[in-house]
Amino acid sequence: MSAPSQAESSTSARKRSKWDTFDSDEPSPRRVKIKRPRRSPTSRSPLPSSTNTPAAALRPSSVSLPASPLRHPGAASDPSRSRYVPRRPAYPPITPCRSVYAYERLNHIEEGSYGVVFRARDKETGEIVALKKLKLDQEKGGFPITSLREVMALMTCRHEHVVPIREIVVGDTLTQIFIVMDFIEHDLKTLLTVMPSPFLQSEIKTLLHQLLSAVAHCHANWVLHRDLKTSNLLMNNRGQIKVADFGLARTFGDPLGKMTELVVTLWYRAPEILLGAKTYSTAIDLWSVGCIFGELLLNEPVFQAKGEIEMLSMISKLLGPPTEDSWPGYLDLPLAKTISFPAKTSSLRARFPYVTETGIDLLGRLLMYDPERRITAEEAMQHPYFSESPLPKHPDLFSSFPSIAAGEKRVKVRSPSAPQRVANYQMEFDFGV
Ligand SMILES: Nc1ncnc2c1ncn2[C@@H]1O[C@H](COP(=O)(O)OP(=O)(O)O)[C@@H](O)[C@H]1O
Ligand SMILES: [Mg+2]
Repeated sequence: MSAPSQAESSTSARKRSKWDTFDSDEPSPRRVKIKRPRRSPTSRSPLPSSTNTPAAALRPSSVSLPASPLRHPGAASDPSRSRYVPRRPAYPPITPCRSVYAYERLNHIEEGSYGVVFRARDKETGEIVALKKLKLDQEKGGFPITSLREVMALMTCRHEHVVPIREIVVGDTLTQIFIVMDFIEHDLKTLLTVMPSPFLQSEIKTLLHQLLSAVAHCHANWVLHRDLKTSNLLMNNRGQIKVADFGLARTFGDPLGKMTELVVTLWYRAPEILLGAKTYSTAIDLWSVGCIFGELLLNEPVFQAKGEIEMLSMISKLLGPPTEDSWPGYLDLPLAKTISFPAKTSSLRARFPYVTETGIDLLGRLLMYDPERRITAEEAMQHPYFSESPLPKHPDLFSSFPSIAAGEKRVKVRSPSAPQRVANYQMEFDFGV
């Protein structure tokens, strides 16, 4: 019989757990019921108890080492070990993942292309987190490389403006694997649609600079994000951006190898990818940053195309068709000769009337056809746009907004009209209103 203290792993507790119901709207993986032989209470739990959590596993069991048989008191106690190598606190450092039942599910946040995201509470610490359940149900060839890359990239790119990964937890079946992250109140796309007024210029500067710092950090660690867009940028109520969703991220090398062509959401996709380039680099992320900068200025996406051809023609109308001058060698790209670029009908200045000349200069360097000449994240962070007036706003001075992801509703501002309030006095106390 299971010990009551290990309720998390007991069947009845699991049946009560909300984690059992999250699959109801997904194609249910066929579960095979396996009858397990009874085990003694000490060996029975495959799920983490307080002693097989990663933290517990890292607890130095080596503290109570047998007395050293060696003549040198400072030397390692194990005679098979060199006395010159310092003892490690624990070995091996790889430990089992905790169970998803360590978290209480609160609400579903969103379902994207690579995972379903939930808000949850850590049962031990009470902290609120976000759990992204990886979509593995359709996988036939084992654990997908894209998911491995996502976890790897999140771990490699730890930064103030990258969403912090806490751990990986597992459910009952092999298809239930979750990434546990800090819960961040908003994503920028949702926030832009519900904000009562658009961001101020000073706020846009802060957000753009934070985004650039995260992108520069990823690139310095040889990671391309490959899907930068407003829905993948989280924002907390303390004016801080956190880059998320590394589902398409991968490492790159020098020299660049062949990479998949179908990356980056269409509206944020760089022209070299649209024209079928087989290799590309960090510059593709900077194009996306340019599109995000423009979206913050306009309060709507810059290029809302339905397909790749329309996307290229929208770019051409805004920037003018590419030429051998503006983009040397573009005609060698696989699709360049099959496309006719329309003439320029607008300009950055006309499309973005409320930003300074310096801002237009930075935007133009981000939305530059030639990836070789496109500004890097490091360079962009030093651009004079960030040092001219209005200066970037301090993150602490940003307004906070109700978090839709946390199920918070906007507080309605009541009309100050006195007679009406008197008339509705009774209703003030009616919570059904
Ligand atoms: N750490 C988090 N905190 C709060 N919300 C999150 C968090 N991570 C993701 N989300 C929400 O879930 C959505 C989808 O997550 P994302 O990682 O982009 O998955 P997908 O790869 O499926 O697009 C995001 O747009 C955001 O609204
Ligand atoms: Mg996403």
